[in-house]
Amino acid sequence: MRFDIITLFPSIFDGYLTQGLLAKAIQRDLVQIEQHNLRDWAPETPHRPVDDKPFGGGPGMLIQVEPTVNCVEAVEAMDSRPARRVLLTPQGKTLNQPTAENFATSERVIVLCGRYEGFDQRVVDILQPEEISIGDFVLNGGEVAAMVLIDAVVRLLPGVLGDEQSNIDDSFSRGNRILEFPQYTRPREFRGHSVPDVLLGGDHGAIAKWRAEQSQLRTMERRSDLLANENETLDKQDLTNTLTPKSE
Ligand code: 6GU
Repeated sequence: MRFDIITLFPSIFDGYLTQGLLAKAIQRDLVQIEQHNLRDWAPETPHRPVDDKPFGGGPGMLIQVEPTVNCVEAVEAMDSRPARRVLLTPQGKTLNQPTAENFATSERVIVLCGRYEGFDQRVVDILQPEEISIGDFVLNGGEVAAMVLIDAVVRLLPGVLGDEQSNIDDSFSRGNRILEFPQYTRPREFRGHSVPDVLLGGDHGAIAKWRAEQSQLRTMERRSDLLANENETLDKQDLTNTLTPKSE
């Protein structure tokens, strides 16, 4: 799988791409991640401008349509595989596990990171990207959101996790909508806090039952929205996005 990240701040990704599971996945050729500086497609004047004031007034600056469309088209031409286009924006559909699972089946994804007040609307009208948000809060730009998306997708690629079981069991994978139970390791006691006896007794049936109860309890207390009827909560956008990716 190949990701192309288009951003005004490519070096933000350097640390993230050179550490841990991601670095290993890149090294093992399970994923290829390329960074592109949008400014390279700006007019070749001294300041290489990519932004301008919104027509009609208002605060801040917008990223212009011309360098953005030129950049996306040039980046697409760097590889023959068809690419899905993603634009990270708080106006997008909220990322969730089914969406990440869906992206993990794609050969190539181009990720556009916004800054300032976002992009000229014609970027969306012309490129028709899938617009994705990572939650109901505002970030300074799409870069951190791009890392979230890539992180969630790459760990689903075959061979990336050491233990394949670990993502099947995860809270939100494969339609799983329950929180994980608490886990403990040595020591058995620390500052008066003990490991629950059931985990030390070796009764695997009792352990499984305790864990299932803990998962239920946590989910009820913290995320009762996850326990509502699946058909009601699986929103229409999830299904559309999962079954029929927009651009291909
Ligand atoms: Cl994708 N971008 C920005 N700027 N803010 C966000 C976001 C994205 N998702 C949540 N907040």
